[in-house]
Amino acid sequence: METIKHNSINFIAGAWPLDPARPTILFIHGSGESSLLWEAQVEALAGRINTIALDLPGHGASDGPGRDSVSDYARDVMAFVEDAGTPDPVPCGLSIGGAIAQQLLLDYPQKIKAGILVSTGARLKVMPQIIEAIETDYEQFIAMSRMFAASEKTPPALLDSLMQDTAQCAPRVTAGDFRACDRFDVMARLGEIAVPVLVISAEDDKLTPPKYSDFLVAHIKGAARCNIPDAGHVVPVEKPEAVSEAIRAFMADFDLG
Ligand code: COA
Repeated sequence: METIKHNSINFIAGAWPLDPARPTILFIHGSGESSLLWEAQVEALAGRINTIALDLPGHGASDGPGRDSVSDYARDVMAFVEDAGTPDPVPCGLSIGGAIAQQLLLDYPQKIKAGILVSTGARLKVMPQIIEAIETDYEQFIAMSRMFAASEKTPPALLDSLMQDTAQCAPRVTAGDFRACDRFDVMARLGEIAVPVLVISAEDDKLTPPKYSDFLVAHIKGAARCNIPDAGHVVPVEKPEAVSEAIRAFMADFDLG
């Protein structure tokens, strides 16, 4: 695995340079997180597929301010795809990352061949207490995240790196992410998506419950579904193999790699 910075965007890649003959899964993290969320999948899926996980602007080691709208982040990701020459991008995002993936599918239908939506929804209203905690007491917000982010069955130590990562994200960037989620609503537009989509949910997800994924599957034509037991919102960290396997099977079923 390699860590690379292209212009202002930092990312990890399963192998570099990318193979122009293979599709590229472009992993996008959740609010206040970084590419670290997807480390296991970037590694496990590299080979038949190019794998890249980005740090969104203002996150991890990427420069720039964060954003407070999903469309702005989608534009940033598309600019990266075009700049870095990413072959056949398949966005795979969690939570706000999944919102960005939906926005890419809607805004760039000619350029995006498929999408993978993990622990997300077509609308992502945020409990006001979350934004308030970020703005007034970031440590309290990290403590709340620990409580809500994973299944009660997940060993707490598995979350340590992820929580450290969020603790290092500037509070104004994390707040902007949650504000962007709160404004996001593409419920009425899902019928426009006409490419293969995989929806991954986790049974114990309290932040984006499986009901949100039911809605995605019911309204995106032909969407495939994988519901993972004994995991919560940060399922790529809680059940890395199950997530990689679901993605591998989807890519193979649709002859994407
Ligand atoms: N897909 C399907 N259904 C959805 C949905 C989605 N993406 N988003 C909301 N809904 C449903 C809700 O389940 C609810 O259904 P109900 O009336 O049958 O219970 C209805 O639409 C209205 O919900 P919502 O728009 O969320 O408004 P609300 O005022 O009822 O609730 C919150 C606001 C913040 C309490 C609620 O959205 C919530 O608990 N969110 C999850 C926690 C959170 O903050 N997550 C962070 C996400 S990044």
